[in-house]
Amino acid sequence: MHQDIDRILITQEQLQEKVSEMGKQLAAEYHRHTPIFVGALNGSAIFMADLTRACPIPLALDFMAVSSYGSATRSSGVVRILKDLDRNIEDRHVLIVEDIVDTGLTLSYLIDHLSARHPASIKVCALLDKHERRTTDVRLDYVGFPIPDEFVVGYGLDYNDLYRNLPYIGVLKPHLYAG
Ligand code: IMP
Ligand code: MG
Repeated sequence: MHQDIDRILITQEQLQEKVSEMGKQLAAEYHRHTPIFVGALNGSAIFMADLTRACPIPLALDFMAVSSYGSATRSSGVVRILKDLDRNIEDRHVLIVEDIVDTGLTLSYLIDHLSARHPASIKVCALLDKHERRTTDVRLDYVGFPIPDEFVVGYGLDYNDLYRNLPYIGVLKPHLYAG
């Protein structure tokens, strides 16, 4: 285990099993629709790569990059778009793929932003749900794991851009960040 990790919350095997289950479920739901999976960079990149490979149906992939103002561990909900979608989503079935939903502010902004382009549907697939911290009412259609209110890294999730490449989800040692 990495020296900055307090404990492993979700192992590599648990991630693999869950992501493959989610991929199958999405395939069953979307096989007639050629959906567009929209990932929020950078956090969702690794989840997206595994999820799409576990979902054996025709689908398109796109990414948005958003940055939310705030500290490194808490988002403020004020979101800035660094990279918008490359394709038109009008009348398409959109699945937003998120690494983690915390307050829900980032997701709520993304849903509003994408809804304005009149997709046929928008649903949300989140690997992690830190539900205790939710301050806004957003519906998650597919959730990998509900998790407690602790700061986690790995499998795409970062602290100051580090730890994204850990193959598991771990709790960061609290003394490494201000709290
Ligand atoms: P929200 O807008 O509060 O839902 O924040 C969502 C974003 O905050 C996520 O996309 C992550 O980038 C970041 N975030 C929230 N909690 C964590 C965590 O425990 N570890 C790493 N990033 C987190
Ligand atoms: Mg993110």
